[in-house]
Amino acid sequence: MRILIHKDYEALSRWCAYYIARKIKDKNPSPGNPFVLGLPTGSSPVGTYKELIRLNQAGKVSFQNVVTFNMDEYVGLPETHPQSYHYFMEENFFRHIDIPRENINIPNGNAPDLARECQEYEEKIVKSGGIGLFLGGIGVDGHLAFNEPGSSLTSRTRIKTLTLDTRIANSRFFDNDPSKVPQTALTVGLGTIMSAQEVMIIINGYAKARALHQVVEQGVNHMWTGSMLQLHRYGIIVCDEEATMELKVGTVKYFKDIEQYDLEHLPEL
Ligand code: GLP
Repeated sequence: MRILIHKDYEALSRWCAYYIARKIKDKNPSPGNPFVLGLPTGSSPVGTYKELIRLNQAGKVSFQNVVTFNMDEYVGLPETHPQSYHYFMEENFFRHIDIPRENINIPNGNAPDLARECQEYEEKIVKSGGIGLFLGGIGVDGHLAFNEPGSSLTSRTRIKTLTLDTRIANSRFFDNDPSKVPQTALTVGLGTIMSAQEVMIIINGYAKARALHQVVEQGVNHMWTGSMLQLHRYGIIVCDEEATMELKVGTVKYFKDIEQYDLEHLPEL
């Protein structure tokens, strides 16, 4: 896999946004042949979304022919709840760009039949032509989407129970009260993410240092589900210096050396 170690969050976010915009433009998408983009929530992608919004508003990239699939959503939270992922995506991305409403897909955590909702979500991804690029973040325990430790490495979209660790981490958005964080969520599976043509994971900040070490320097392991990226043909981790604190000096030097050009140049638009 590729690992790009940028100096800080701002540089990382700008590079991710330009990379995504370049991919969309390379495809030259049309209504019959859209660019299909997988998207995360959380604080990690916020900088990338801000930069993509700027590029869209500056006319550098259009989302007219982009179809999106979000990774996950809490079960039972109204879409209008400020902590629902529907609300997050609207506020932080969708309402600022030129994407047609019908191109946006987010799992419905209020569907009457959740198992069916998950099944249909998978079918919709396939019908859309499959995900071209899946952008993601990672939890402090190394989870991708809501694929918590112990998740099947070949899992598909389904209902997952959140670990106490995740509920404590996410309680910062729920009055610091873990009991207010929903106990379950709908999430794409690791198999769903692995089926994308390309997967790009943002890992930033000291809090993610242990996860980055496990994902990069240890073997593929269901207790650190982000390590599945090692098996992807086109996996990219985009991180900042802070997140590398638990990596070997040699690992950091190696990836900085082979990615030197891309660390110094933004993809052209
Ligand atoms: C949640 C989301 C993940 C996200 C993780 C980290 O658990 N389901 O998709 O990667 O949080 O969030 P943050 O980027 O805020 O650290």
